[in-house]
Amino acid sequence: MIEYERMKMTDCAKAAELESGIFGGDAWTEEDFRESLCCDYAVYAVARDTESGEIVACAGVRNMCGDGDITNVLVDSAYRGQGIAEHLMKYLMSEGEKAGVRNFTLEARVSNIPAIRLYEKLGFVSEGKRPGFYDNPKEDAMIFWKRKDNV
Ligand SMILES: CC(C)(COP(=O)(O)OP(=O)(O)OC[C@H]1O[C@@H](n2cnc3c(N)ncnc32)[C@H](O)[C@@H]1OP(=O)(O)O)[C@@H](O)C(=O)NCCC(=O)NCCS
Repeated sequence: MIEYERMKMTDCAKAAELESGIFGGDAWTEEDFRESLCCDYAVYAVARDTESGEIVACAGVRNMCGDGDITNVLVDSAYRGQGIAEHLMKYLMSEGEKAGVRNFTLEARVSNIPAIRLYEKLGFVSEGKRPGFYDNPKEDAMIFWKRKDNV
């Protein structure tokens, strides 16, 4: 069974391991996750396989005056295609709203179709591109927002 909950300090090593397997040299380290968990404006969520006790997915949001910047969205490759990212994002945004976030934003590589479809399914709308945002390889980012406030 998969459970959704707030990330704990003891999850940081596994989160960094999952990141490294997906994002290589650009991955967050255990220390990066530990530092983020100490920020009172950040909310981090995980999906945990209750059989192994290990986390299989994570995502975080940083609250900047009501705008929540979502990062570190990832699911272990062995667990993809089961709705885990969708559930985790809904849980993360609900926890973010409790912490005062009204509008959520995130970015994705223009070639990352699974992520783009996921965000569109969750109601995010593309508001443009940021040229050359990503390195290794260099690529444009699509910027998404899911807003409650009018701009
Ligand atoms: C993107 C990612 C988080 C999706 O995780 P997941 O748990 O497999 O996604 P879900 O099973 O919750 O899928 C939810 C929706 O996302 C979309 N989606 C997910 N995988 C997809 C794929 N391979 N192709 C197209 N759409 C996809 C679909 O709309 C899907 O809904 P559906 O099943 O009704 O069609 C996962 O592929 C991943 O970790 N990728 C590597 C890290 C990454 O790129 N993170 C995002 C950085 S911006």
